Amino acid sequence: MLQIYKVKIREFEEKDLNDVYEIELESFPNPYGKNLLLYYHKESPDTFLVAEFLKRVVGYVIAVVEYGDVGHILSIAVKKEFRRRGIGSLLLEEILKRLKRKNCKSVYLEVRVSNIPAISLYKKYGFICKGIIRKYYLDGEDAFLFKKDL
Ligand SMILES: CC(C)(COP(=O)(O)OP(=O)(O)OC[C@H]1O[C@@H](n2cnc3c(N)ncnc32)[C@H](O)[C@@H]1OP(=O)(O)O)[C@@H](O)C(=O)NCCC(=O)NCCS
Repeated sequence: MLQIYKVKIREFEEKDLNDVYEIELESFPNPYGKNLLLYYHKESPDTFLVAEFLKRVVGYVIAVVEYGDVGHILSIAVKKEFRRRGIGSLLLEEILKRLKRKNCKSVYLEVRVSNIPAISLYKKYGFICKGIIRKYYLDGEDAFLFKKDL
């Protein structure tokens, strides 16, 4: 039984790279490479966050600010055996708070049309589907474009 109050959300550090990469590998068919993860850390250190539980990295979220005031959530994932325990919610809540603090007026993201867990998470947090992007993913799957005003 995971005690959610023991999960700490903090900024990514370079020592977390292998753990985050492992979560990428188990979560996505076309995972980000380590160099890209390091690039996002350099570019957006305060919006690349990890969830830590008992000194283990069990999830992460990456966002960037575009056009000065638009947040873009690039990736969010939780280690398989830790899913459905509130960690994705903690990560999403913290990234939304930080994007707002950075003066973002809205935030958007893309999600596979088949990704029911993620779609449910975004809807729960007030994201609204604004459209569909045909063949957005390398394997040809479409994406929903979700947006939320902050
Ligand atoms: C999407 C993801 C990050 C959610 O993380 P999580 O820690 O399991 O999420 P939480 O436990 O905080 O769940 C919050 C809400 O998400 C939704 N949700 C999460 N998992 C779900 C599932 N398997 N089926 C349906 N809804 C689900 C529910 O609305 C849930 O609220 P509830 O518990 O009150 O019903 C996780 O499933 C994951 O890592 N998926 C693989 C990577 C991925 O697809 N990322 C999104 C890319 S766009």
